[in-house]
Amino acid sequence: MEKSDKSLILVSNRLPFQLLEQDDQLTMKQSDGGLVTALISYFNAESNRDVFQQKKWFGSADFPEKRWKKFKKQSDVQTDFTIEPVFIDKKVYNKYYNGFCNATLWPLFHYFPSYVVYDQEFFENYEEVNKIFAERLLKVIKPGDTIWIHDYQLFLLPQLIRDKMPDATIGFFLHIPFPSYEIFRLLHSPWKEKIVRGLLGADLIGFHTHEYVQHFLKTVRMVLGYDHHYRTITMQDRLVKADMFPLGIDYEKFSTASRKPEVVQKMEAITKNFPDKKIIFSVDRLDYTKGVTHRLLGFERLLEKHPEWIEKVVFVMVIVPSRQIISKYNERRILIEENVGRLNGKYSTLSWQPVIYRYNNLDFEELCALYHVADAALITPLRDGMNLVAKEYIACCSEQQGVLILSELAGAASELGEALLVNPLDTEEMSEAIQQALTMQPEEQRRKISQMQKRLIDYDVHSWVNDFLFQLTEIKQQQKTEQQK
Ligand code: F6P
Repeated sequence: MEKSDKSLILVSNRLPFQLLEQDDQLTMKQSDGGLVTALISYFNAESNRDVFQQKKWFGSADFPEKRWKKFKKQSDVQTDFTIEPVFIDKKVYNKYYNGFCNATLWPLFHYFPSYVVYDQEFFENYEEVNKIFAERLLKVIKPGDTIWIHDYQLFLLPQLIRDKMPDATIGFFLHIPFPSYEIFRLLHSPWKEKIVRGLLGADLIGFHTHEYVQHFLKTVRMVLGYDHHYRTITMQDRLVKADMFPLGIDYEKFSTASRKPEVVQKMEAITKNFPDKKIIFSVDRLDYTKGVTHRLLGFERLLEKHPEWIEKVVFVMVIVPSRQIISKYNERRILIEENVGRLNGKYSTLSWQPVIYRYNNLDFEELCALYHVADAALITPLRDGMNLVAKEYIACCSEQQGVLILSELAGAASELGEALLVNPLDTEEMSEAIQQALTMQPEEQRRKISQMQKRLIDYDVHSWVNDFLFQLTEIKQQQKTEQQK
């Protein structure tokens, strides 16, 4: 294959690495998130090696420009991508990220309309940041490049690029739910029109589930009047396709983790701490969408109705700090801690505590050890775009033992139908599901887990990247055919 001179330009709010400083020495730590891993393996696959000459990743910098320049001078680190930090004034970034992104769009798209902050200044700063990204990108994009934009922080970016480069190849993927039109319409009118127009600047718009695709297509019709045929929208100048690409995980990495000596060591330490006890596990970023307080009530109801579990079960609940500046997040943390304290105060004995609560980051080895030893995972968000924790847990059930209790309001529920699906608001139903999980026969566990594992192997994060980029090429081809008609 002839070497291409085209580039793949990835754009997301967060860069896939951190800049660390120790003893005046700067180092770069690449994140081990699924998307990065998948893209690296996509580039390294023999058949894809020459598809893109260069790969660049643009994202907002969470470090000063001075430090970046120093790092570039000090280091000749080779990364799989050229890292392109976008520097944004702190005040502007704050109103964009903590403001419009996470105090307006995030609560609304997760069906928390009463949490939504309506602030014109937040929106203006959101527009400003999208424009800063566009200006920076337009300096480097060449005809023929593929631009892949990620998530709700950059809704306006596709059209900003399209305005200047009408033939650009632009893909967009949304990592959170796209809500029903009844919810989306609650946005201030000029904002919602700009958001829909912004998105339609892309050629392919990807969502996790069929439902989100349908919500988006209806929203486009209601807000701008463009109709669709199946999943294709015909605009004046172009066809735009909206489709479903359920994000997968790096299955291999999780399913083989229990062979790593560090993971085995950690597993042994955990089981030694809880001899003869069933372990229920959950891990979430701190967020009011995760349903943590309802989950605690569900567990409490189990102890109330089935006292035979007292001293026989522990619930290990890990919360990873997130978005701490936003008041709704801090309030949630206080509420969770009050509930844990109350529950433990009510049920603990001198030798047992029902909830082991941790508010901290988990490293990969510890996370996999916990997935592995858990008899059940209790994943009950009130709304979640996908929820990869559910998929990672299933991949880590290497002896096909374990039970997944999963909210029917997580995107992952549409792929993991063998899980015990629960309404996360219904405490009674949740307590029954926990009881069912704790008493499920090994054969039934094996049957369910192996069916889910097969599905996750079939469509892992590598297939996801391939599928998206393949369909993006296809829609460009379709557009050309239409133009020639
Ligand atoms: O689920 C959407 C998402 O943006 C993820 O991509 C990300 O891991 C998470 O929310 C937290 O996002 P951030 O910490 O960048 O606000």
